[in-house]
Amino acid sequence: MEDKRIRITETVLRDAHQSLAATRMKTEEMIPILEKMDQVGYYSIECWGGATFDASLRFLNEDPWERLRTFRRRMPSTKLQMLLRGQNLLGYRHYADDVVQYFVQRSVANGIDILRIFDAFNDLRNVETAAAAAKKEGAEVQLAMAYTTGEAYTIDYWKSLAADMESIGADSICIKDMAGLLTPAAAGRLIEELSSSVSVPIQLHSHCTSGVAPITYVKGAEAGCRILDTAISPFSMGTSQPATEVIAEVFRGTEFDTGLDRNLLGEIGDYFRPIRDRYIREGLIDPKMLTVDVKTLQWQVPGGMLSNLMSQLKELNAEDRFYDVLAEIPRVRKDLGEPPLVTPSCQIIGTQAVLNVMTKQRYKVMTQEAKAVLHGDYGRVAKPFDPVVQKLAIGEDRPITCRPADLLEPELPSLREKIASYAVQEEDVLTYALFPKEATEFFKYRDARENKIDPEIYDLKNKAYPA
Ligand code: CO
Repeated sequence: MEDKRIRITETVLRDAHQSLAATRMKTEEMIPILEKMDQVGYYSIECWGGATFDASLRFLNEDPWERLRTFRRRMPSTKLQMLLRGQNLLGYRHYADDVVQYFVQRSVANGIDILRIFDAFNDLRNVETAAAAAKKEGAEVQLAMAYTTGEAYTIDYWKSLAADMESIGADSICIKDMAGLLTPAAAGRLIEELSSSVSVPIQLHSHCTSGVAPITYVKGAEAGCRILDTAISPFSMGTSQPATEVIAEVFRGTEFDTGLDRNLLGEIGDYFRPIRDRYIREGLIDPKMLTVDVKTLQWQVPGGMLSNLMSQLKELNAEDRFYDVLAEIPRVRKDLGEPPLVTPSCQIIGTQAVLNVMTKQRYKVMTQEAKAVLHGDYGRVAKPFDPVVQKLAIGEDRPITCRPADLLEPELPSLREKIASYAVQEEDVLTYALFPKEATEFFKYRDARENKIDPEIYDLKNKAYPA
């Protein structure tokens, strides 16, 4: 008989606090519970990548690599999973292949078992290098499709994307519904179609922003999804994932039983609850994030994007134009080839829509980023660009049609030279490659903390040399 048991990826150490608490959970707040989490029997624990790397350096004065080694030491029995933005790694631009390959190699060497890799435009040319590198290191490669709705996104689109993912070596495929747009009916149909067209397992990753995700998970399981992403209850729901304990109870005693121990999950929930409560008291978690935002479904845009737009319009004293901007978003998105609304496209499209409405003339003013999209700098989109808008953006310039990273020279040799005086470990060159400014500040801080700089001349608390 077919094994229908659902396996669980626990996200509390990555996406859950990234979605609810601006990625501010410290390693020291995680350490006391790691050994217990390792006993649960999760399919995997998502604990690294995404925004955690940036946030560790920038806000927490932590070495992200040391955090990963801590996870590996204290959770030897569970697969550790990370989120990687394809050729963007964990940064905000395309990196040369040598940086991508070395980053993946060091991630696996320091403890990562599963790399979930995606591209914001679902352009698989932007995930190929990372996927091949992960394969070479013997890691599990999970390719993720950025889920969205729109004219271009038919069942056939997703089926052909999934088939391409399988053909470039995906060990599993994740439907990454970052905005919580996937309804139960849509999930049922999509997963049924995908599981009949590819042979690798399908994992579902959603957010409760619009409120439908727990029901979508049930439908997904019934349709053949094998792995679900959940967060332990204190860091679940709202803009985060459905609750681990709830999903375990929903399936208990059925053919989908997760087999997870209720008491053990209870103890883990008890550990994180006071941390969540303190985050609320300190203002790190806005209680609004924990509620349902149905506008997401109504307008088919991510919740975070709506609140960003509102604050942009407030600054311009133009809150009354909110609905005009909302109506302009799908038009701009179409002109730009209808990409998924995820970082960075949601910021680019949102800002351009505001400009189009406020200047009362579409594309009178165009941002550099919108021009770059229309120049092909980010890669291929699902639909062709609007030719008139593209012409406005790039004039007589010829757009890029190759893989954007093909235009990049190797970067590692010059990066190594630049940080020679700071590097204490191989991984430092990668930290510097991704975030040069933040990395340099952190390296100085680290030297001072380890007494390599006289405290009289370096102010450890303020991370600065006095003027
Ligand atoms: Co997510």
